[in-house]
Amino acid sequence: MTDLIENFLPSQYRQNDEYKINHNYLRDQFSDKDQILEKIRRVVERGDFTLGEEVDLFEREFASLSGVKFAVGVGSGTDALFLSLKAHGVGPGDEVITTPFTFYATIGAIVTAGAKPIFVDAGEDFNIDYSLIESKITSSTKAIMPVHWSGRPCEMDQIIDIGARKNIPIISDACHAIKAEYKGNKIGGLGEVACFSFHPLKNLNVWGDGGIVATNSSEVAAKLRLLRNHGLASRDECQVFAYNSRLDTIQAVVARHMLEKIESITESRINNAHYFDEALSSITQISIPHRHVHLKEVFHLYSIVCERRNELQKFLNQNGVDAKIHYPVPMHLQPAASHLGYKQGDFPIAEKLSKNTISLPVHEFITKADCDHVIKLIQHFYG
Ligand SMILES: Cc1ncc(COP(=O)(O)O)c(C=O)c1O
Repeated sequence: MTDLIENFLPSQYRQNDEYKINHNYLRDQFSDKDQILEKIRRVVERGDFTLGEEVDLFEREFASLSGVKFAVGVGSGTDALFLSLKAHGVGPGDEVITTPFTFYATIGAIVTAGAKPIFVDAGEDFNIDYSLIESKITSSTKAIMPVHWSGRPCEMDQIIDIGARKNIPIISDACHAIKAEYKGNKIGGLGEVACFSFHPLKNLNVWGDGGIVATNSSEVAAKLRLLRNHGLASRDECQVFAYNSRLDTIQAVVARHMLEKIESITESRINNAHYFDEALSSITQISIPHRHVHLKEVFHLYSIVCERRNELQKFLNQNGVDAKIHYPVPMHLQPAASHLGYKQGDFPIAEKLSKNTISLPVHEFITKADCDHVIKLIQHFYG
């Protein structure tokens, strides 16, 4: 079976020279790789490979960046979600409320923890519609997992209020949302935990996989430190049989290097997004989510809703712009969800967004001239 599954990943990270304006930018971004390699050389000389000094330093720096007391580095964003669920005791027979308009990993983490994902529809802003959450809570609900999609914070006051009243932890999928803020508060400190990814295409990216959990709870942080490292309290004492999902020390070196740049990366993305917003808002076939002043969006993706989406994507691709679809099929309609019993029409907004949303390249190497080029093409497409 596995022999039949094509490895489609390497091509996703390659800058495609057929495109003038790429979604991927790793070659440009790591043009300073020698500096990182030099730091890695020192790790190799120390033999400091698992949970080494660089991980410890990165966790402290990330906690400070995210406005939380603790940050626990793990193997990926998916593991950050999965281990956070486990740290809150979520397992077989439990339910976790989330959105169907997300990446597979949100649901994968819930299912691999043994729980059942319970979907509520997204709103027009791409995020979970908080007004629908309460009606889905049962005695089996053990967590609510909002996703700050594209780096836009969910309406956390309302979601945290539901969690507090019903005594249900909020485990946020903040994999797109490093440095995002809600009402002036850093997203990492809202709810019980927030989970971040350092996947190569994320805003803070490493040379492979990496993730982290941000929390203000010393108890949750301690559980996560056990769960990510075989449940070991010391070399000879295993408190709980668990997992091996440590943030790799070599990846922590890359992450610390990127931490120095995250401010300017974020600023470029925000500037590019606002530039697009201004130019595209007059096109009647395009609808841009309302930008609220209480949300600091960090634009992991610049996603808009548009008419004739597939044709527009083809047109942009043919004209050298790597426009992408995130994602064409919502989670409740994926083959993996067939046993959950959902059907077409159950979540109309998520389904509409999946059909009509397009993402334009927005990263820090996109220049104003690139934005103008994309804008002109879109204006031309809609006549
Ligand atoms: C919304 C969301 N959640 C979770 C993940 C999982 O992160 P990772 O790839 O680091 O496991 C991703 C992306 O990769 C994501 O986009």
